[in-house]
Amino acid sequence: MNKRPRRLRSNPLVRGLVKETVLQVSDLIYPLFIIEGNHIKEEISSLKGVYRFSLDKLEEEINEIVQLGIQYVLIFGIPQHKDNRGSQAYDDEGIVQKAVKKIKSITDKLYVITDVCMCEYTSHGHCGILNEKGDVDNEKSLYYLGQVALSHAKAGADMIAPSDMMDGRVGYMRKELDEWGYTHTPIMSYSAKYASSFYGPFREAAGSAPTFGDRKSYQMDYANSNEALREVALDIEEGADIVMVKPALAYLDIIRRVKDTFNIPIAAYNVSGEYAMLKLAVEQGLLDEKAIIETLLSIKRAGADIIITYFAKDIAKLLKD
Ligand code: PBG
Repeated sequence: MNKRPRRLRSNPLVRGLVKETVLQVSDLIYPLFIIEGNHIKEEISSLKGVYRFSLDKLEEEINEIVQLGIQYVLIFGIPQHKDNRGSQAYDDEGIVQKAVKKIKSITDKLYVITDVCMCEYTSHGHCGILNEKGDVDNEKSLYYLGQVALSHAKAGADMIAPSDMMDGRVGYMRKELDEWGYTHTPIMSYSAKYASSFYGPFREAAGSAPTFGDRKSYQMDYANSNEALREVALDIEEGADIVMVKPALAYLDIIRRVKDTFNIPIAAYNVSGEYAMLKLAVEQGLLDEKAIIETLLSIKRAGADIIITYFAKDIAKLLKD
């Protein structure tokens, strides 16, 4: 009986000593939905415990986030006006731009990341601009996305996170940011973003479902894994500082492959559908809430350094107990 793995499981202290993966609040980025209008704090029906806030209702939430020890937020905007060019996305007075300024005026303790995409702002709901035929026009979209990134940086965003999946956008945005003097603003790129059903609740939350077709011409086929490595390699070449795999749970293998192949920080997006499933199961009493920690830890164990999750507040509370 020389080999007895249980020896190192026999008491809590020794288990702590040999623990390989730790989940900390400082690993987490909390997404925030900010909506145009006044006096709005409405729960998103498909995302229990997550709300849309108007700017005037933001302060209480921001203070709670800071108090819980969360340091990173990812901002999504929900504009009142949409058009075919998504003009509110790059307006200096747009909802995200205002939200960044507002958060910065409330606290200096939060690192503010902004999602750069067109889908919440375009009348057709696609992540880029369409050509005459009605297809998403990659090259034309780059120009607009560059404007969005720049306007976020000007508003004071600490980091930008392009989620549109157009080819070449990381390089384009990097160049644009550098030219305007934002050489220190990092880019966290949604590099391997799959065309997934798990975004369903988000699209309801942000009102960003496409009005026709789907996103398969720009988001990845979930049958593919080598392709994810090619996407990540390109983004790194173009200047991404952090690469992302999205969704997380059905894609733990992708996270691990990216981790084993590249030497760069990896973020994983524990998306809305993943949150909704687990949140409901815990609420119904089907699963113990520790299942949340177990699930999030699996994403770290797979190789993610950073997790974007709607569970950030729950985890901050659970880890305090
Ligand atoms: C915007 C965007 C989406 C998500 C993040 N940014 C939706 C989509 O691509 O359709 C999904 C996030 C989630 O499901 O939690 N492009």
